[in-house]
Amino acid sequence: MMIIAIDGPAASGKGTLAKRIADLWGLPCLDTGLLYRAVARNVGARGFKLNDVWAALAAARSLDPSELCDPALRGPKAGDGASIVARIPEVRAALLAYQRAFAGQPGGAVLDGRDIGTVVCPAADAKIYVTARPDVRAKRRYNEYIARSEPVTYEVILHDILKRDERDASRESAPMRPAQDACLLDTSDLDIEAAFDAAVGLIKRKIGQ
Ligand code: CDP
Repeated sequence: MMIIAIDGPAASGKGTLAKRIADLWGLPCLDTGLLYRAVARNVGARGFKLNDVWAALAAARSLDPSELCDPALRGPKAGDGASIVARIPEVRAALLAYQRAFAGQPGGAVLDGRDIGTVVCPAADAKIYVTARPDVRAKRRYNEYIARSEPVTYEVILHDILKRDERDASRESAPMRPAQDACLLDTSDLDIEAAFDAAVGLIKRKIGQ
């Protein structure tokens, strides 16, 4: 059984890394950001404000994991909304059991997010905190959106990333930060292959392979 926690700020590439790592070890992978994105989307769709605690909690409790495949959740609006509902402690608490059950599957799992190493899986076998300079992250996210024909500009993405990082790092409940025993991986000057190789090296060293 092996649990791998991948955390880091917006658009740091943790999702791509998590999937590649999960494939390498044959583990299931959960992008926990999608949970918060889906809660935000459902609160809005039901006509409530994103900071409405009752509505957000109801959306978190009734979340159906089959909704997480919806590509619309990966858009820019869902990301901003996610960081607003993610500040609500009741919402975080309601999503915890699902995340822990996912991590506890036989064989283990890879989870990526903001608080996997600190709150969701504090006993994970390996923890990586993925970072990159904001301009690099904004460029990567810009390229992603352009490939999906999302109408965006680089400046708006950079602004969104910085605003979201600030909100995620300064909240009281499970703020975004590296766990004490996390390995830091700065991917600013690494392409995906090099970042993947570095992450695998860190994990192997940690688990003694
Ligand atoms: O892909 P990106 O890094 O842009 O964002 P994401 O991982 O999908 O997360 C969207 C938002 O959900 C974040 O800005 C956080 O506010 C929140 N989130 C969280 O609070 N805790 C997690 N474990 C994962 C995401």
